[in-house]
Amino acid sequence: MAYQTIEVRKLTPTIGAEIFGVDLAKPLGNQQFQEVHDALMDNLVVFFRDQKMSIDQHKDFGRRFGPLHVHPNAPIAFKDHPEILVIKADEKSKHVAGEEWHSDVSCDVEPPMGSILYLTEVPPNGGDTLFANMYRAYETLSGPIKQLLQGLTALHDSSKAHYYRVKATDRDDIKFPNAEHPVVRTHPVTGKQGLYVNRGFTLRIPQLKRNESDALLEMLYRHIETPEFQCRFKWQANSVAFWDNRCAQHHAMFDYFPSRRYGHRVTVCGDKPFYRAA
Ligand code: SIN
Repeated sequence: MAYQTIEVRKLTPTIGAEIFGVDLAKPLGNQQFQEVHDALMDNLVVFFRDQKMSIDQHKDFGRRFGPLHVHPNAPIAFKDHPEILVIKADEKSKHVAGEEWHSDVSCDVEPPMGSILYLTEVPPNGGDTLFANMYRAYETLSGPIKQLLQGLTALHDSSKAHYYRVKATDRDDIKFPNAEHPVVRTHPVTGKQGLYVNRGFTLRIPQLKRNESDALLEMLYRHIETPEFQCRFKWQANSVAFWDNRCAQHHAMFDYFPSRRYGHRVTVCGDKPFYRAA
């Protein structure tokens, strides 16, 4: 793809690219917006270095791609900015958000299209994020397995990912959303098909017996984790990652305890997943 307003350098042939020549604190012109969008569609996750964004600028950048999402179960850190999800770890952390491979908030009926994470504090080493290409994960399955998956749905439930993140005293009052989505999802922009089950949120495939569902999901989770579908992003302070939740999964590596890692995530609303035969 030829770009005129940005430079795009691929991290791997399969997924991930760094974008140069954009100041995310400034409103993007139409052509630059289109090129960033195209680079995201082409690479599934894009990265920017050396950005300085206020909360409002971060939200404005996200809003270019759609309305902003408010997390159903995470505490609101900034009263005036419920769309900001704080990603934080320090010497008190036992876990961090996103340690399992997942697609963000797939428990929503209309899960987010994309997520834009801006880290301002990073550990001296470690704390990378891994991303995996779900088109490749689907394409590389054998024909009979593809055939089987095309007719199936899966239940995704927020409690699987968020139950222990919610204060014990709040758990009875809080609603943990859940939703049923096709196991193979057609991307609404590219028209390509990708696997849409993830260890973080998916509970079971209701059309199958419990043991069949567990075995099939475990096989798919292991397949999704194949290293050749992945890239690994090394953060620096003021880096930004923007991923497409409809065709990529990610995994936050928590290998830096007790160092600090801090940033804000803005999440862009998406639509109801569907499957359309190719
Ligand atoms: C997330 O799942 O949004 C967190 C990713 C990260 O902290 O690298």
